[in-house]
Amino acid sequence: MGRKAFVKNIIGKVTVKNRLVRSAAGSGVASKEGYVTDDVRKWYEKVADGGAGLIISEMMTAWDDGNFPENYLRIDDDVYIDGLTSVADIVHKRNSKIIAQIGNYGSLLHWEANKPPVGPSKIKDEISGITAKALSEKEIREIINYFIDAAIRAEKAGFDGVQIHAAHGFLLNKFINPYYNRRNDAYGKDTEGRSKIIVDIHNGISKACGDKFLVLLKINSSDFIDDDYGFKFDESRKVCNYLSSVGFDAIEISSGLAGGKITPARPINEVAYNLEHTKIISEDIQTPVILVGGIRSFDIAEEILSSTSIHSIAMTRALTYEPELIKRWEEEGKVKSKCIACNKCFTTEGQMCVFNIGK
Ligand SMILES: Cc1cc2nc3c(=O)[nH]c(=O)nc-3n(C[C@H](O)[C@H](O)[C@H](O)COP(=O)(O)O)c2cc1C
Ligand code: SF4
Repeated sequence: MGRKAFVKNIIGKVTVKNRLVRSAAGSGVASKEGYVTDDVRKWYEKVADGGAGLIISEMMTAWDDGNFPENYLRIDDDVYIDGLTSVADIVHKRNSKIIAQIGNYGSLLHWEANKPPVGPSKIKDEISGITAKALSEKEIREIINYFIDAAIRAEKAGFDGVQIHAAHGFLLNKFINPYYNRRNDAYGKDTEGRSKIIVDIHNGISKACGDKFLVLLKINSSDFIDDDYGFKFDESRKVCNYLSSVGFDAIEISSGLAGGKITPARPINEVAYNLEHTKIISEDIQTPVILVGGIRSFDIAEEILSSTSIHSIAMTRALTYEPELIKRWEEEGKVKSKCIACNKCFTTEGQMCVFNIGK
């Protein structure tokens, strides 16, 4: 078997040293107000030392609506740029690239009682039970600008690009889901309309940032919910086909709802659980596709990269347990991750591996 995982990877105009990506993951060690701390720097240093070619940050809120947890990085104001610059420098010194994930929780979670979560329509979130405040067109345009401003900050901080978070039940996931988006204006009605907010964010960022600055998307292939409120594969396939024509530099395919029956991070017996859908989408579209979910062994990563048109493999938990795993794959080959997929790191309280905190 070859070593496709370690072949140089061209994404947009950026050369990445391999095809292995650290998928977005919070560390929970930012300051209470969302600033970079020494612990954040140490964590990114470990992940970059560990060999991932591309590192996607945790989701940072695109604007201050009060609806996000404490101790998570933020990018909604220029005051965060200096700290984020120090993180980008650490990653670049280790010859890896860094992407800022930006998004908004929408009605999935709620922290600030005075600021109701927003959504495409006034529909109750079936996971949280919270009813979103429907956005006006003017408010949607404001939100698009918040995303663009956040991307400009990421560029100023030296990040190589941004990833728009439209997966896992977050705000933009609600926009592309016909159950939650009942709008009859330009931001609803059909697949194109429901995707328009993502298109406008993409185009705004491309215009505002340099042509080397990457714009990635994370999307669910399915929420894996049979009930009406679940975002289904057929619709996701249509959205991906449509969005691939917009010019995203790569699309990462995930699934499940944070807090749902099937979550984005599944138990140990489920291996590469987004492969089937991701393979189909990667054959449909020209845009490079990144697979995430349940990948823990080099052989499986290598087999997928050699036998499908999937472009890169992303991992979170395997690298949360053992940030140096990719280096070990490169040096020793057939090493399996020690992560037992218990998901004790997948909480809003703290996101380090409970088996190696402080190591
Ligand atoms: C601790 C932790 C934090 C996460 N934070 C994010 C996040 O900020 N944004 C996101 O898109 N996904 C997040 N995820 C989901 C992962 O990016 C990934 O999609 C999921 O864990 C499946 O990949 P894995 O099996 O390699 O862990 C998180 C997952 C974990 C375990
Ligand atoms: S806490 Fe559990 S799921 Fe998370 S990295 Fe550690 S072993 Fe894996």
